[in-house]
Amino acid sequence: MHICVIGTGFVGVVSSGVFSSFGHTVVGLDVDERKIDQLRQGIVPFYEPSLTDLLIAEQQKDHLTFTTSYEEAISQSEVIIIAVGTPSAADGQADLKYIFAACESLAPYLQPKSIVAIKSTVPPGTLPKAQELISRTYLAAHPQGPALELGMASLPEFLKEGSAVADSLHPDRVVIGAREDWVFQKLSELHTPLQAPIIKVSPESAQMAKYAANSYLATRITFINQIADLCELNGADVQEVISAISPDKRIGTHYWYPGLGYGGSCFPKDVKELAAYSRSVGEANNLFNKVNELNEDRMTKLMDTFDKEIGGWKGKKVALLGLSFKPNTNDTREAPSTKIVPYLLAHQARVAGYDPKARLELTDQTDSASEFVQKNTLAEAVIGADVIMCVVEWPEITDWDFGRSKESKPQFFIDARNQFDQTKLVSQGYQYLRIGKKLHT
Ligand code: UGA
Repeated sequence: MHICVIGTGFVGVVSSGVFSSFGHTVVGLDVDERKIDQLRQGIVPFYEPSLTDLLIAEQQKDHLTFTTSYEEAISQSEVIIIAVGTPSAADGQADLKYIFAACESLAPYLQPKSIVAIKSTVPPGTLPKAQELISRTYLAAHPQGPALELGMASLPEFLKEGSAVADSLHPDRVVIGAREDWVFQKLSELHTPLQAPIIKVSPESAQMAKYAANSYLATRITFINQIADLCELNGADVQEVISAISPDKRIGTHYWYPGLGYGGSCFPKDVKELAAYSRSVGEANNLFNKVNELNEDRMTKLMDTFDKEIGGWKGKKVALLGLSFKPNTNDTREAPSTKIVPYLLAHQARVAGYDPKARLELTDQTDSASEFVQKNTLAEAVIGADVIMCVVEWPEITDWDFGRSKESKPQFFIDARNQFDQTKLVSQGYQYLRIGKKLHT
């Protein structure tokens, strides 16, 4: 099958690589020439395990090419997948300008019978607008015909950063939102090699499924974070609570790790968008508003609590371990570090950050920004630290032997992801703090 994937951001690049690995002929399209040049050379502009190897292998097999030309890419494709960004607009709803720009650009070059599937996260109601725009633009370009038989679909994506290739090759399900049988049939065929359950629904249900999945997981994280807060007040231990509730099959074990709040490019954005969408359809009093608010306040609330426990951040040297939003990615969008570093600088602490892959670009440098340095190794970051704070569970960080780097002065160890062995760290001399258990040293 000949397909085109428009947008070479995270989802677009991963999808291009994975679809081409099934033997489909894939053209990755982007208006950004620099990105396309890099991808042609097998250079991926972000860190994602095994993606570079996949892209190089598929290009060598001639299954995958990259271009900036709509004419070249669209005219040879039966299925066009739109995977461009949908940034949040000022009112919190998804800004669809890149989706509509792609629709307008692709329309003149469509084959008379084509499928356009939107993989980007968009609200219900987007597909008819996109369809109208494509049909109108096609007609303007082909006033004498042939008539366009256009199949529209929604193809929501459920992969996670850090395990994107594996998630795409072994998804729990594929969701196809469409109305016509021939569209379902063609898109099912596209995904057949995955051997995953294919859920065929309306476009609106597919779009809601994407928001529902992310918002449910974000709500679940917010829920366990709230339980953790209560545990800190009443002597319970959130990890014991988790071990006691997760064997219940209705509850399960996943997405139960408390921390500083969820981050990344998806959960915060999608929860806010669902809240804004709910407001726009008259549901002003909705759960998603509250989830977003609790998550946004969480970091400051916890850092204030730690402030009391350690006798104030002021003047402390802090080793901040983990700058990405989660392990196995260099993505720092909405990462805990992006809020913690400004918080610590505002509290006159000195911060030495370390991450195995990510570098933090602080856009709003304050006059105390010189207090923030990023070290090349974990060993360098912890030298002289009064407080070691682990915020991302990178294996390099959780496997590190902190006993070897313990200094003779008193040192706090903040385990913000509940990953470490408390007994061991205390025996090594650290004053240990974590989430969801009455803080003590
Ligand atoms: C998320 C979804 O999990 C994917 O299914 C979805 O396709 C993707 O968004 C998207 O919409 O593109 P991702 O943002 O890559 O994927 O990362 P997750 O692993 O889901 O983590 C999101 C955030 O939740 C991170 O900040 C993580 O640290 C936090 N988290 C996760 C917790 O605080 N506790 C947990 O138990 C799990």
